[in-house]
Amino acid sequence: MPTIPQTRTWPYLQLANWIFRPLAYMTANARRYGDFFFAKWGLLDWIFVSHPEALKTILTQDMGPAITAPGDANKILEPLLGKHSVILLNGEQHQQRRKLIMPPFHGERLKVYADLIQTITRSLMDEMTVGQSFRARDVMQKITMRVILQAIFGLHEGERYRRLETLLAERLDLLSSPLASTVVFFPLLQTNLGDWSPGAKLAQQSQEIDALLYAEISDRRAAPDPDRDDILSLLLQTTDEDGQGLSDEELRDELMTLLVAGHETTATALTWSLYWAHHQPAIKEQVQQEMAAAGAGDDALALTKLPYLSAVCNETLRIYPVAMLTFPRLTHKPLELMGHPIAANTLLVGCIYLLHHREDLYPEPDKFRPERFLERQFSAFEFMPFGAGARRCVGYALALYELKIALGTMLSDYDLALTRDRPLPPERRGVTLGMKGDVEMVFNGKRAVSPPVLAQI
Ligand code: HEM
Repeated sequence: MPTIPQTRTWPYLQLANWIFRPLAYMTANARRYGDFFFAKWGLLDWIFVSHPEALKTILTQDMGPAITAPGDANKILEPLLGKHSVILLNGEQHQQRRKLIMPPFHGERLKVYADLIQTITRSLMDEMTVGQSFRARDVMQKITMRVILQAIFGLHEGERYRRLETLLAERLDLLSSPLASTVVFFPLLQTNLGDWSPGAKLAQQSQEIDALLYAEISDRRAAPDPDRDDILSLLLQTTDEDGQGLSDEELRDELMTLLVAGHETTATALTWSLYWAHHQPAIKEQVQQEMAAAGAGDDALALTKLPYLSAVCNETLRIYPVAMLTFPRLTHKPLELMGHPIAANTLLVGCIYLLHHREDLYPEPDKFRPERFLERQFSAFEFMPFGAGARRCVGYALALYELKIALGTMLSDYDLALTRDRPLPPERRGVTLGMKGDVEMVFNGKRAVSPPVLAQI
């Protein structure tokens, strides 16, 4: 049986490549070794997997006993999220926590957010004056932050929320450049080594963010409101078999997890989608025609059902997936993966970027071509921007709603343009994939939209 090839570069050089040139690193290894290879980053050793059949095998079995999705393997995120975060929990405890936090992000609850996303998008756009230039990421970050604050706390107004919004944006920006990202990969750099160290600034920000979160938890404990259905209220009501509720620290870690996971990722995807729609103006026109024909501009829920708009959002998540990798999975006994023997105690990681760039699935993978999503259907293991299995993204449905509704609303109601049209290279942003610099745009006013009735005749 063919064994999985080992990458030969010095492990710390591999880690540096992963931090500074992640796409080139993955592409070079895939060209050389194919669908599977052992990546070695410093002391870490794991197999990158990018074949859909192998991903299906792993991600349909990852609740045990042969394979698990261990939270311990995500230790790198502990300083940012806290040790009680769902992302760091294991086994049964992990599954229980997921059950608790999933409902507000799905089904009927989700529909409530549709109008909210449209209202928030419009309120931010309406603040602009004709001819005003703006940085797309800043505005998209505000949209996603307000949506997630509403989902979690049921509110997005007031001094505490405004301060939280600013601090979280600053915190994530601090870790955004590839160089700053090294802080994430080397936790030692996060320790406070005096006023000028990156750790000092992080510590000060963390303290301030924690104070705001603990203040909110304390206010809510003091005055519980059974009618509220935001996530914090649900988490506050929950108890285990012994009647024990979540501690303040556990609550803080979960809130932080959802705030971080739910805001930065979606803002990056939205920024890309705006860029692509204006960089290839035929795409913008086609979305506008589709919305006009369906009379969908004013109906937030209708926007989520438009095939071409959905294809544009999918293609955005395919070409530069915000999460390049799934979280790691761990084998507990020897197994076989498409004819390759895998030993027990091996870490496996799904490489979403390489999967999304397979020529056999996506011809000319570097071209942004939404039509590919109308021409064929992709399985959950061929297109997986949100991962799959035991750790599939908790907020995927909300993220897709945000993308379709915010992008649709901006294209339907406003006339926007790129200040300078140029190819925009992707670049690492903390643990995610973002873009080099920002997308500079100009606001040219409101569009005169033809009434839907006329469009329907
Ligand atoms: C475009 C936006 C987003 C992308 C691309 C994305 C992607 C991902 C991916 C790839 C995973 C790991 C899946 C795996 O290992 O199989 C993940 C996990 C997770 N995501 Fe997202 N995500 C996005 C938005 C959100 C939102 C809006 C929220 C919540 C409000 C969220 C919360 C989470 C959480 C809590 C986990 C960890 C789940 C667990 O450990 O069980 N994400 N996401």
